[in-house]
Amino acid sequence: MPLVSTKQMLLDAQKGNYAVGAFNVENMEMVQAVIAAANELRAPVILQTTPSTIKYAGVDYYYGLVKAAAQNTAVPAAIHLDHGSSFELALQALRAGYTSIMIDGSHEPFEDNIRITGKVAEACAPLGIPVEAELGKVGGKEDDLDGGEGKGFTDPFEAKEFVAQTKVNSLAVAIGTAHGVYKGEPRLDLDRLERIRKEVDIPLVLHGASGLADEVVIESIKRGICKVNFATELRIAYSNGVKETLKDNPEVIDPKKFGALGREYVKAVVMEKMKICGCIYRI
Ligand code: 13P
Repeated sequence: MPLVSTKQMLLDAQKGNYAVGAFNVENMEMVQAVIAAANELRAPVILQTTPSTIKYAGVDYYYGLVKAAAQNTAVPAAIHLDHGSSFELALQALRAGYTSIMIDGSHEPFEDNIRITGKVAEACAPLGIPVEAELGKVGGKEDDLDGGEGKGFTDPFEAKEFVAQTKVNSLAVAIGTAHGVYKGEPRLDLDRLERIRKEVDIPLVLHGASGLADEVVIESIKRGICKVNFATELRIAYSNGVKETLKDNPEVIDPKKFGALGREYVKAVVMEKMKICGCIYRI
């Protein structure tokens, strides 16, 4: 089917107490793997690209890949700009056909984050394209940027004011997750998540889900998370497939041969994550 927006998808998840898995894709094989997993498990799905991925190949390539893959499925799929870093990039993705936009002003002071986010939300609203924003600081290495320790969890009352002023459709919260590989065991502030949920009635988003224990993801979904982002574990799965193939068969020179195992491994990871999110057999 044609690409859909994340708006209804996330509202359905909020109503049904599950989360939609959002998967960062970086090449054709990863796109195919995510769509194949969604199709097999009849799950709504979000495929997303960060600014550094877009810098690598451009919005049109990724839009084209995701559109082509989604066309052959019966499940709703959306293409989302992850961590949109500027108004200009948001508009570029919008023009290319992206069906969901994140603007990440979380590195800016509160008032500036409101201003930047509100401007993007205002541009997207007439087109019916939903906007995700971030408030507070998710730690770790986020795309090309180092988020450090991620100190500065989301304040529930600031979140309420932020959503009222910007009119965003979903909000990424900082409750102790980090992008990339966790060094120690992450400790999530789930009580804070519950307090944010009480103040904010839009779908909440969990970033940095690679490496979290399944029970932690499940518990955060119970407490209001409706979209869960996975990137690092997909990268690891894909490169493991490539490395394994080349290690066992160093004479292989056909990219299709090592890409195929990477694709298979990514699909397996995505299927696992979809089960944890509870979004399977929803279609
Ligand atoms: P991980 O790389 O930790 O899975 O985080 C993904 C993410 O939050 C992308 O925005």
